[in-house]
Amino acid sequence: MQPPSTTSSAGPSSVRVELGPRSYSAEVGPGVLAAIGGRVRDSLGNRCRKALLVIDQAVPGKFADLAESSLRESGLEVARATLHASEHEKSLHSFGALLQQLAGLRLERRDVLVALGGGVIGDLAGFAAASYRRGIPFVQCPTTLLSMVDASVGGKTAINIDLGPGSGLVKNMAGAFHQPIAVLADTLTLESLEPRQYRCGMAECIKHAMIGADFQDPSLLDWTRRHASSPAQSAEISELITRNVAIKARVVAGDEREEREGAGGRALLNLGHTFGHAIEALPGAQGVLAGGQTLPGEIQHGEAVALGLRAALAAAVRLGSASQEYGALINSLLDSFSLPARASGLPETGAVVDRMRHDKKNLAGSLRLILPCGQGRATVVENPPEQAVRDAIDSIRA
Ligand code: GLY
Repeated sequence: MQPPSTTSSAGPSSVRVELGPRSYSAEVGPGVLAAIGGRVRDSLGNRCRKALLVIDQAVPGKFADLAESSLRESGLEVARATLHASEHEKSLHSFGALLQQLAGLRLERRDVLVALGGGVIGDLAGFAAASYRRGIPFVQCPTTLLSMVDASVGGKTAINIDLGPGSGLVKNMAGAFHQPIAVLADTLTLESLEPRQYRCGMAECIKHAMIGADFQDPSLLDWTRRHASSPAQSAEISELITRNVAIKARVVAGDEREEREGAGGRALLNLGHTFGHAIEALPGAQGVLAGGQTLPGEIQHGEAVALGLRAALAAAVRLGSASQEYGALINSLLDSFSLPARASGLPETGAVVDRMRHDKKNLAGSLRLILPCGQGRATVVENPPEQAVRDAIDSIRA
């Protein structure tokens, strides 16, 4: 399923995220953004008067205009904040500026913030919504494959903390659990997505397929493999997103705040991420494809996740939780989306391990890994042998 040329003909579908009083639906399909005004009114009633629309400047203006007119037609006053989405923008500074704008516009507790963009915008705007007046409602309108299948669902909001020169960013170090009141994943917005960003989204889809059997979709891995090489058609894109959102919804419904230890918990979504976050946070890492080509510029989140999945597979094979055949199968699936096979510019292995210990998921400098087990299943391992972790890092070193 290579990047789509068009996504315009399949109908919408809806996935319910069951969280008691915080339940909401994720609508997936072409044109769902046009319904945002009605969705806000249905959820919040007439006491909602104002909306702040936080927009990634890379999103084509027609989608921001569409969301704004739908909100206005529902009787809301709408203001905009347009941001340049990058991990550096997910900062204390941008967070503060959004809070100032919300306060300047005098949004009340029943007013709404709408995030229109990828994961950076959703995380930053979501954290502002979680904090302003101790929490106002917000709507996630993801416009990248990655944010549609992962970041927009489940209520994690966050900013990065910059530790200064040489140390780089610690991802998502400050944040809150704050569920949106709705998710509108309009597949038409993917038309302008760069192929590289689409592939980054596929890294998270492959991660979901690697835990699909743990969350009631054991055939997702085969389905993803079967569709890997053909150009994506609209119906496939909608099915891909809907099935991935459904996995995410089931995980979150079972462990909203990532408190469950062991199998079945939200921690499984961190498959590939302990390695991946470290790679991403250390300055200078670049992805290198299986064919030897170096991907230009900073490594992207999905690329770091792909490398993290490969490292987790290497550790799993070494520790006996997954077979070599399974490792080869997933590696070749990652290759088919031109996701990096190795990283250049990694510091010495001990520095990567240190950064992994710094991951906010770890307690008191201990290390916790999610290891694939094969057949779409994964498991949580506390304090894996350090040599296996080191070897896994070296296995993805260019
Ligand atoms: N992206 C990981 C989670 O939502 O828990």
